[in-house]
Amino acid sequence: MNKELVPDYLKELQTYQAGKPIDEVAREKGLTKISKLASNENPLGPSPFAIREMTKGLWDLHRYPDMHAFALKSKLAEMYNLKRENIILGNGSEGIMGYIARAFLRPGDEVLTCENTFIGFYILARSAGAKLKLVPLDDSYRFNVAALAQNITENTKVIYIANPNNPTGTYISKEEFDFLMRHVPKHVLVILDEAYFEFAIGQQDYPDSMDYRYDNVLTLRTFSKAYGLSGIRVGYGFAHEELISYLTKVKLPFEPNLIGQLGAVGALEDQPHLERTLKNNNKRYDELFAYLTEKGFKPIPSVTNFVTIKTGSSEASDHLFQALLNHGVIIRPLKANEMPDFVRISIGTKEEMGHFYEAMEAIIPEFMKLYGSQL
Ligand SMILES: Cc1ncc(COP(=O)(O)O)c(C=O)c1O
Repeated sequence: MNKELVPDYLKELQTYQAGKPIDEVAREKGLTKISKLASNENPLGPSPFAIREMTKGLWDLHRYPDMHAFALKSKLAEMYNLKRENIILGNGSEGIMGYIARAFLRPGDEVLTCENTFIGFYILARSAGAKLKLVPLDDSYRFNVAALAQNITENTKVIYIANPNNPTGTYISKEEFDFLMRHVPKHVLVILDEAYFEFAIGQQDYPDSMDYRYDNVLTLRTFSKAYGLSGIRVGYGFAHEELISYLTKVKLPFEPNLIGQLGAVGALEDQPHLERTLKNNNKRYDELFAYLTEKGFKPIPSVTNFVTIKTGSSEASDHLFQALLNHGVIIRPLKANEMPDFVRISIGTKEEMGHFYEAMEAIIPEFMKLYGSQL
């Protein structure tokens, strides 16, 4: 192939690596019982309402979806007291990040964010040729607003904040968000990625972006996490209507697809499912945090559906990941996030967490012998 076709920034770009799929592990290990605690999905599954709505849509699959997604946008507008013109939908919130890159980023543009955040965003920004300026997280593994504020220059075009952050599960407070916004010039676009907002909203000092109306802030949310619909790929964004109008110009007209639109509306109408999800998550989180602490790990306090722990080294992370895999439990090593000495565990059902604890009991003695001193 003609290498001239490919811009240099694309030659160097790494490909996104997802959590190991259940079928792959079952095949490779010859196991039937697999617990996937690797991709921060909803372990309770999709809402039954959402399934019912999606099933109805199967008979209309010869038709294109509504390109204006009237039902879904109307529902979101009503829930969040917005106009439909303030809403953009896409194939997951990553799909919308892709529109942002396509609409606003050009080769050489500077994008400011932190180290150790969502890799999907790094990849999309780099795929547009943007230069990432990364500042470290703070000592508590949180987005470092002071360092971000200090690093804004006249070249800064976009600031990306994941709140809560993946893979650390930490969040910035209202006070910190206000501090940052006081330092952000109006021409800089702030992407506020709130993929885990439903889990974090219970924190009193969590800055719910719906309480703010900045013309240069774009909020991203998703049906992939608390709503349990990662498989249908629906994400949504809120912003000033002018900003949304430019994203709409570059958007593929029929995203999200017909089943995705129906499933998302069904999920929004099933608040009890969301409540069950949060209840399971809170209970399992407390148990997991206590278990890991008791075993000698130092889990990072998280307001999401996952917990990240230090293993001390890349070797220790690989050991834990492989040993759990041999027991049919899939967790996530964080090498790609530049945190090779950490692993991330997504919160599962009671049964899945039982499987995890059972595997850990078998693994921990050897793990501690080899790596305990470096925790
Ligand atoms: C912080 C963050 N943002 C966005 C996403 C992508 O979500 P979606 O499935 O909506 O594309 C993820 C998924 O893991 C995430 O952790």
